[in-house]
Amino acid sequence: MHRELLRDAAERGIRYLDTLGDRHVAPDPAGVAGLAAWDTPLPARPGDPAETLRVLDEIGSPATMAMAGPRFFGFVIGSALPVTVACQWLATAWDQNTGLHAVTPATAELERIALGWLVELLGLPAGTGGAFVTGAAVANLAALAAARHAVLARAGWDVEERGLFGAPPIQVVVGDEAHPTLTKALGLLGLGRSRVVRVPTDREGRMRAGAFPRTLEGPAIVCLQAGNVNTGGFDPFAELIPLARRAGAWVHVDGAFGLWAAAAPGRAHLAAGVAEADSWATDAHKTLNVPYDSGLAFVRDPAMLREAMAISAAYLPTGAPRDPSHYTPELSRRARGVEVWAALRTLGREGVADLVERTCRLARRFADGLAAAGYEPLHDVSFNQVLVSFGTPERTRRVIERIQRDGTCWCGGTEWQGRTAMRISVISWATTEHDVDASLTAMLAAARAEPA
Ligand SMILES: Cc1ncc(COP(=O)(O)O)c(C=O)c1O
Repeated sequence: MHRELLRDAAERGIRYLDTLGDRHVAPDPAGVAGLAAWDTPLPARPGDPAETLRVLDEIGSPATMAMAGPRFFGFVIGSALPVTVACQWLATAWDQNTGLHAVTPATAELERIALGWLVELLGLPAGTGGAFVTGAAVANLAALAAARHAVLARAGWDVEERGLFGAPPIQVVVGDEAHPTLTKALGLLGLGRSRVVRVPTDREGRMRAGAFPRTLEGPAIVCLQAGNVNTGGFDPFAELIPLARRAGAWVHVDGAFGLWAAAAPGRAHLAAGVAEADSWATDAHKTLNVPYDSGLAFVRDPAMLREAMAISAAYLPTGAPRDPSHYTPELSRRARGVEVWAALRTLGREGVADLVERTCRLARRFADGLAAAGYEPLHDVSFNQVLVSFGTPERTRRVIERIQRDGTCWCGGTEWQGRTAMRISVISWATTEHDVDASLTAMLAAARAEPA
């Protein structure tokens, strides 16, 4: 029975992807209203699996946002390279709980190999360890747990055993434009979302080196950023990391999408010096374009991550070269390394560089097209994010709504340093020059249609 069911699922998935570039990017309002059809009482008896799949597709597909398509520019959402979707489908059939090497050797090996490739590709120090997690939010959490362990261990405190009660206080430094998932991770770790030293930033959201604290007392963690979610700005690592090091601090970098600049020779200067940090968080579901969800935590000294995350129990086999569950917050986990390995194996070093470079080039094309029509971006567009205002906050919001309704593309809004702006995040492998030009035409038509 599984044969027909899985063939049907594959056919439906293929049909969905075939038509994604031709439909409205936002979900069809009638489709969203149609979701009510799912809202039935819990069935009392087993039903037909094929019928369940049909109901999922026919009701769900029209109500999806075309995030996997070429003209979704909201948030920072990569789409999925076809090979990563295909390999994920197979890996889902494998259903490997990738916590222990002895139990799931194939997927644990893929993670070990992909991790090594990533360390090389991103120019991180040889021997850097890591963990496959759900996204940059959890990657920040895992890496900062390693940081917390390391700085307290140096002060003679075992935080995993004793907790933070009575521990030496840790000073935490963040930029004013740190991503909220970073401060959330600090909160989860008992370090406090607000109990931080905030360093002022410039118009690109980059930490001002001149404003970095002159002294840091005792255990300290400095959190930097590669790729601000609004501007794509990078903290000046080459200036800041030596300052943090001199103060004996652990340096963590949130590089959810920007860490990948290091893999593109034409953009690597943006992340110069980033490899001097102690830990890094990034996403594979953004710049690398693997399916959701997929994030990565890297730690220069893998022992620190292991000390923070290791787990043992009499029923869990031991002794493998690398048990993934010793490095992740989770014990049970899907095999996220499969898609990362598939993307890297298929793209190679050049393909990843091209992917990063293309998104940056297309962001520049957006910026130039908007500037030519009188809408100057609010920042230097050096990576793959663009912020633009259409005048007053009210008008900008109305233009964004009109663009979303038009459906050619989808962009969201934001507030950037006191200004209301539209965000254009170019991060899908599928986006072409043609998509940018069609989207620009729709954006400028929306702007013309809105009274000043
Ligand atoms: C700089 C930065 N950090 C962290 C995150 C959170 O990433 P995720 O939603 O994949 O956990 C984002 C998301 O856009 C981001 O831009």
